[in-house]
Amino acid sequence: MDWTLPPEALNGLLMLLHEAQMGLRALCYVLGLAPEVHGQPAWPFAQRLAGELLGQEAGHARRVALALLSGLAIVFLLGLSWCWRRARPILGLLTALLLLLTPWPAARLLLVPAVPTSLHQSPTQFTADGIVRGQALYQQYCLRCHGSDGRGEGPAAEHLPMWPPNFSGALLWKRLDGELFWRVRHGLRDRHGQETMPGFAQSLSDPQIWELLDFLQAQAAGESLREAGVWTAPVRLPNARVQCRQGGQKNVQALAGQRLRIVLANDKPSAITEDPRLVTVFVGLAPEVLLSIDPECQSNSPEMTQALALVLGVPSAQVAGYQLLVDRQGWLRVRGKPGQAAWSENDLVCRSSSSSGTGVAPVGSAADGLEALIRRMDAEPVRLLRGGFPHGT
Ligand code: HEC
Repeated sequence: MDWTLPPEALNGLLMLLHEAQMGLRALCYVLGLAPEVHGQPAWPFAQRLAGELLGQEAGHARRVALALLSGLAIVFLLGLSWCWRRARPILGLLTALLLLLTPWPAARLLLVPAVPTSLHQSPTQFTADGIVRGQALYQQYCLRCHGSDGRGEGPAAEHLPMWPPNFSGALLWKRLDGELFWRVRHGLRDRHGQETMPGFAQSLSDPQIWELLDFLQAQAAGESLREAGVWTAPVRLPNARVQCRQGGQKNVQALAGQRLRIVLANDKPSAITEDPRLVTVFVGLAPEVLLSIDPECQSNSPEMTQALALVLGVPSAQVAGYQLLVDRQGWLRVRGKPGQAAWSENDLVCRSSSSSGTGVAPVGSAADGLEALIRRMDAEPVRLLRGGFPHGT
């Protein structure tokens, strides 16, 4: 028996386990069994379900799915034999068979150690302002060990008992937000109890830690793009206020549900024609240039320019001419470089991580490069797996 769960089923299973876990937390809170910590209900147990292992190991995911089904069937059979006395012997036999034949998953693969904030969700909304504030905090408190690019080669790193990790891969993405929060607050220790990273509970407030984590993710995205040419982990469009021709001022994340094209500091914005398939958002246009056009949407926030420079992995002064396409769920998917003549499939720098290539639209038949990219964005949505669990946007 060597089948694997299709990605949709695995996603569904993870979503179910996540919801069950969140439900349990809410119940404990309502019953007064768990206090509130850092603004959200605490996770009162020393362990949590290990979603990350389900995503990694096909055999394990299969066993968990079968065990759940089998558990449901057993509950059903027990209920049935409660009211149908005459069938009890046969129902009992069936139950025993199910218990024996089900490939129960190993308990050590199901649970991992948890902290009270394990299931906390970041309250920051990944705003450009927060990312930029996080950057300043990083330079003040973290850079000396983690390095100016987050690769762990800061000036103080070589004197540490252990090298700090490289954030440019998918490390941060694999962790739960709430557990990263806890680690920055309380520090980290090795197996012998020796401190490997100091905690920052004394010097940083809760919102500051959440903003630092947003910055780390933006920076990791830019480094990954520079190093590997792709976003190894998906990254969301930073939030900022935009001014739109229709609807006036709003948060750019409020445009979710539509595809966006972000155009950075372009000096010939009139050359960019509006497109019914996308909402065009200009960022960082000079005021005199703005006067000459009537853009669909625009933002003049220097923080937005800086946050986008971070996720692009280029200095703020060099973002002019870059373009980004954002899918309907708010994920950054496509990067266009300055001066590039036409769109091509290589511009799709955020590919769906768990996409198995099924259901991909036939790109060759698309009329233009942009159409092909839009089809792929739509056909291969980003799966919301974060620390193994679906991560709310
Ligand atoms: C004194 C050096 C030092 C400083 C200062 C420092 N770190 Fe660390 N950091 C480390 C080391 C070493 C590790 C790896 C520790 C380990 O895995 O046990 C680490 C690990 C981490 C991790 C990864 C945790 C995980 O889940 O694997 C994060 C996130 C992190 N640091 C964030 C920060 C932030 C944010 C700051 C600034 C507020 C900061 N660090 C300041 C040395 C440092």
